[in-house]
Amino acid sequence: MKLFSNLHNLWMRKPTFVNIDVTYSCPLNCITCTRGGNITYENELTLEEYVKIFRALRDWNVHEAAFVGGEPFIKKEIFSILKSSLDHGIHPKPVSNGFLINKNTIAELRQIGVKSITLSLNSLNPSIHDLTRGRSGSYQKIMDSLPLLLKNGIEVIIMTVLLKQNIKTIPELIEWAKKRGVQIQFQIFVSPEFMFYAYSNESAFNQGNMDFDKDWLMKSPYWIQNIKDFQRVMDTIIFLKETKKYPINNPIKQLQYFKIYYQTPNKILNFKCKVGNNNLSIDPYGNVRLCFAMPPVGNVRKTDLHDIWTSTEAEITRRNIAKCTLNCKLMQCNY
Ligand SMILES: C[S@@+](CC[C@H](N)C(=O)[O-])C[C@H]1O[C@@H](n2cnc3c(N)ncnc32)[C@H](O)[C@@H]1O
Ligand code: SF4
Ligand code: SF4
Repeated sequence: MKLFSNLHNLWMRKPTFVNIDVTYSCPLNCITCTRGGNITYENELTLEEYVKIFRALRDWNVHEAAFVGGEPFIKKEIFSILKSSLDHGIHPKPVSNGFLINKNTIAELRQIGVKSITLSLNSLNPSIHDLTRGRSGSYQKIMDSLPLLLKNGIEVIIMTVLLKQNIKTIPELIEWAKKRGVQIQFQIFVSPEFMFYAYSNESAFNQGNMDFDKDWLMKSPYWIQNIKDFQRVMDTIIFLKETKKYPINNPIKQLQYFKIYYQTPNKILNFKCKVGNNNLSIDPYGNVRLCFAMPPVGNVRKTDLHDIWTSTEAEITRRNIAKCTLNCKLMQCNY
């Protein structure tokens, strides 16, 4: 009976959401990320290869995909890729630092029919934002592009990583977002050595990195040390969402877990990670991952995406995911 139900689950399971990292290049240099620094990479997937991926996603009835990176708008063919995604019925949802967005890019997005975009904004204080994003002028670029995006009917979602440097400025950011009719979602700070390992060690593209320094975060100068201040801000966020119905995208339960995470980042939380059940991630070289930290389960350059999804490697990885006790399961993309 158990075997039957496992087979049934496997047969029924298909992705509903896909994360596509189109490049690991990026013009910024965020203190939390190792993908910055304007480096150019070769051998990234081509438009033709994306078209093949989109066909496979259409067969599964996938309706939306995040286009991330690195910075998606640094990629030359990004607009053709977004258009092709939409032509296959998949709504593209770019996640961007806003640095390369301007009047012309917005006109292209509008013409293609992109309906929403996530902009990473860490603070309304320009020096805090620019410090955390590693490049001066990055705050101003967001402030210039955001009203233009809204004016062109493109929905904006603000994404903010909670750090020591920005935590006190969060209530002001929420009020600002509400006034402008934009949603906001908060992301926990995860060790970049862990999260961006595949990039930081090029030879590791085909490996995972579950073996990282678990105390790195608490030693980091960006980790929130004053837990009382943090708890106060979290209570404000929860109050604004629950009672005042502010457009804060994180579920209340997730925000409550954030309070535990920042107090004890390695504490084992008693719920399971769900990645790989109905989502997958494709890196710029075609590697397909169910969990960003575990080895790829296949590569679209060699194997059909549908076969990768139902492969033995994918099933073994799902079993490892179910046993995983790490807390990046609290991240917005996984939650
Ligand atoms: C890796 S970036 C890629 C897209 C784009 N370059 C951007 O910054 O929006 C995606 C999101 O990850 C966030 N991020 C960066 N470093 C992080 C970290 N160490 N922990 C959690 N989120 C992080 C960024 O702020 C951004 O919102
Ligand atoms: S978080 Fe985004 S903007 Fe910052 S360095 Fe990483 S990829 Fe670039
Ligand atoms: S919690 Fe989930 S996303 Fe994080 S490492 Fe474990 S399986 Fe991967």
